[in-house]
Amino acid sequence: MKLKNKIVLITGGGTGIGKATAFLFAKEGAKVVITGRREQILQEAVDEAKTENLEIDYVRSDISKEEDCKAAVEYMVGKFGRIDILFNNAGVLYRAITHETTTEQWINTFNVNVRGMYFMSKYTIPHMLKQDYGVIVNNSSILGLKASPGFAAYNSSKGAVNQLTRSMALEYADKGIRVNAICLGTVYTPLADDMFEQWGDKEAAREHYISVHPIGRLAEPEEIAHAVLFLCDDNIKFMTGTMLSVDGGLSAK
Ligand SMILES: NC(=O)c1ccc[n+]([C@@H]2O[C@H](COP(=O)([O-])OP(=O)(O)OC[C@H]3O[C@@H](n4cnc5c(N)ncnc54)[C@H](OP(=O)(O)O)[C@@H]3O)[C@@H](O)[C@H]2O)c1
Repeated sequence: MKLKNKIVLITGGGTGIGKATAFLFAKEGAKVVITGRREQILQEAVDEAKTENLEIDYVRSDISKEEDCKAAVEYMVGKFGRIDILFNNAGVLYRAITHETTTEQWINTFNVNVRGMYFMSKYTIPHMLKQDYGVIVNNSSILGLKASPGFAAYNSSKGAVNQLTRSMALEYADKGIRVNAICLGTVYTPLADDMFEQWGDKEAAREHYISVHPIGRLAEPEEIAHAVLFLCDDNIKFMTGTMLSVDGGLSAK
């Protein structure tokens, strides 16, 4: 078991990549708490985990609200006394070119993808400093490394995620806290499904995204969970400040 008794908080853990990571981490011996806004989705994930003999807990938390982020961290520390791993995973995506992006879409993208990540990190890091130990993984995107037309707010927010990752990695490198990001290609999740839907012709969108990935397919959330596990493994503790591409070869183009 690679994460035996590690205390893990995963934002947006009720669906997609967050949920797959929660299940894998629980299988690897971690005590996992997932967050999200929709209580029913979180409860369903917890119930499904039980059917696999995995114990996962949840806290309802909207990461665009500072008080919710603080409360989620306090819940962890109250229950377990520490936080070893924070997977800043929650995110939103709107498909729109710059001048057609609504102000509300722009603000919400940054509130969730960047500000929420900052709040979660801000309240978690003091506990990691006390422990002289912590691992933070930020869910970025290939679109944080390269721009793609039609995703102005998302491209910008994930670029900010990468710079926040580098900043935090440098600030805490000699304090036992490692901070890395994953930069993903397209993964079959509700977020990707919604992106295909926003394209207009869903099937054509799916085919298009498959065709741009050199590997000739899209990823499953479980594959991404293994990349997050790799970054959280203490055997790789020389690794910090890295943007790890997990993208079927997309960034090599
Ligand atoms: N799928 C891809 O192709 C892809 C590619 C690159 C990067 N990513 C990144 O992967 C991460 C996870 O996305 P996913 O693909 O797994 O899609 P997903 O299943 O839609 O997951 C997004 C999660 O974020 C949560 N969330 C959204 N707004 C929130 C808020 N205000 N507060 C708390 N939680 C919130 C959602 O839960 P609630 O709605 O219940 O709050 C949901 O569980 C995102 O950061 C995304 O940018 C995905």
